[in-house]
Amino acid sequence: MKKNKDGFIAVIDSGVGGLSVIPALRAELPGEDLLYFGDAANAPYGERSADEVRRIVDGIVGGMTEKGAKAVVIACNTATSAAASYLREKYEIPIIGMEPALKPAAQDGERPRVVVMATPLTIREDKLHSLCEKLKDRADFILVPCSGLVELIEKGQTEGEGIKQTVEDLLAPYLPGVDSIVLGCTHYAHVKDTIRAVAGEGVKLFDGAGGTAKQTRRRLAEEDLLREGHEGTLTLTDSSPDPAYGDICRTLLQKLK
Ligand code: DGL
Repeated sequence: MKKNKDGFIAVIDSGVGGLSVIPALRAELPGEDLLYFGDAANAPYGERSADEVRRIVDGIVGGMTEKGAKAVVIACNTATSAAASYLREKYEIPIIGMEPALKPAAQDGERPRVVVMATPLTIREDKLHSLCEKLKDRADFILVPCSGLVELIEKGQTEGEGIKQTVEDLLAPYLPGVDSIVLGCTHYAHVKDTIRAVAGEGVKLFDGAGGTAKQTRRRLAEEDLLREGHEGTLTLTDSSPDPAYGDICRTLLQKLK
């Protein structure tokens, strides 16, 4: 098959979450054209079944390959857990998923106590459990399903009382004695400041954006698909019925910089 180096990289998520991976992708891959798709019409994925998410994401990836995508970054932990292996079997192009940052968190300090915030579906799936199993001699993991948070962030709420109260309600039972928090959902990176404020000084936050961007570069290099000597572009698209949704995306992306 002819290598389509000039094709774009599709970056997909259930909504605004995957935008938190964009700065790392842009920094790691400045020559690449990125086409972002936030599937707001189907969010939140984390409250759906794995079969439903697999079917939805398969449809998106199929559409992206028809448009000429040379690779797909699933900038969503939930969709990665539910669909990445299936998609890798089905499509020829590289499919890069999110890896929750349990390993760097486990390696930080002497047997740290690590809270992993993720969606209910991510917490039900095997991927997270096998990662915890692999690292069980190095850290104690507390898996916290965070229903309700994605819905607020999808509305563009990243600060204020509503977010603070939700984060407090979710984390308070686990907080004393916690060393670090893994953001196991790309949406949560938009509310890092609130999570930090609730968790308190000294609790470290880890997310998977940098690791995913590096892995994307590695996979493209392996497949001889890296594009250099070109100024990469970023196009934002979504499936929201709300015409103001694009503004929410742009504002959140701006705040990340
Ligand atoms: N951003 C997604 C993740 O990383 C999922 C949010 C959702 O739709 O539930 O898990």
